[in-house]
Amino acid sequence: MNPRHFISLLDLSGDEFRSLIDRGIVLKHNRDPNYQPLKGQVLAMIFEKSSTRTRISFESGMSHFGGSALFLSPRDTQLGRGEPLKDSAKVISSMVDCIMLRTDKHETVTTFAEYSSVPVINGLTDLQHPCQLLADMQTYFEHRGDIKGKTVTWIGDGNNMCHSYIHAAMVLDFTLHIACPDDYRPLASIVEAAGDRVRFFDTPLAAAQDSDLIVTDVWASMGQEEEQKQREIAFKDYQVNAEVMKAANHDALFMHCLPAHRGEEVSGDVIDGNQSVIFDEAENRLHAQKALLEFLLCKKSR
Ligand code: CP
Ligand code: NVA
Repeated sequence: MNPRHFISLLDLSGDEFRSLIDRGIVLKHNRDPNYQPLKGQVLAMIFEKSSTRTRISFESGMSHFGGSALFLSPRDTQLGRGEPLKDSAKVISSMVDCIMLRTDKHETVTTFAEYSSVPVINGLTDLQHPCQLLADMQTYFEHRGDIKGKTVTWIGDGNNMCHSYIHAAMVLDFTLHIACPDDYRPLASIVEAAGDRVRFFDTPLAAAQDSDLIVTDVWASMGQEEEQKQREIAFKDYQVNAEVMKAANHDALFMHCLPAHRGEEVSGDVIDGNQSVIFDEAENRLHAQKALLEFLLCKKSR
């Protein structure tokens, strides 16, 4: 039987997504050191790109659950010397219980999933960052309740985070406003699949109207460092600042997946202000992913 993977939020139903959020909240508030559902199990973590939150949350989560995690970089494995993905996926999955990958190309993760005999988790690709959305949505639910019917505004690059926000809008049924420069729109195929849940606006101020949550991300993602200067020019009118937050609903929250560049995509007063929930959001990577690991690896033990 094929294992259940987590490559995209579209792999989840709305009920499953909400159950994961509920479970993440329970795990956060009831840490029981004797609850070790993954005792003896191993998570392989393959990182082609840097990480603080993703690595630490998965490694700590496995440890809390009685298992362990292996950090693997292409530099130190045969993956970096061109061993075929298919062979690597078969070999690695024969020795571990789950594989998490953070890769440049989304196809690397989908190919791994095709040949892996154990669940594969997308820990970020150039196209999507679904684990971050588990944490973001848990954070919204904790602060404001269910997000169904609410309005979220994405300001900035139509990147991997933006794509996963579009998917979250589809699965959890909220409206997503997007304000981004024309040359940096999210992929048309992803936007079209979301139908009328996604609306584009010419300016951040227009997009923020009636919003319950304002979200942004860096202007240059990992791998785009050489475009930094060009992007600073393209995105100069797309900063989330106090004026943008004022245009949103009075109780709107601010989120950012981090790491952030204060003074670029977000002003210091907003990211460090009282509407910002960035540190809850970061911490929730741990709790949300523990819920995910439990869901993928030990559904029957609960
Ligand atoms: N938000 C996020 O994925 O952070 P890291 O790059 O530190 O893992
Ligand atoms: N869009 C960013 C997210 C980092 C967590 C990147 O891909 O670098």
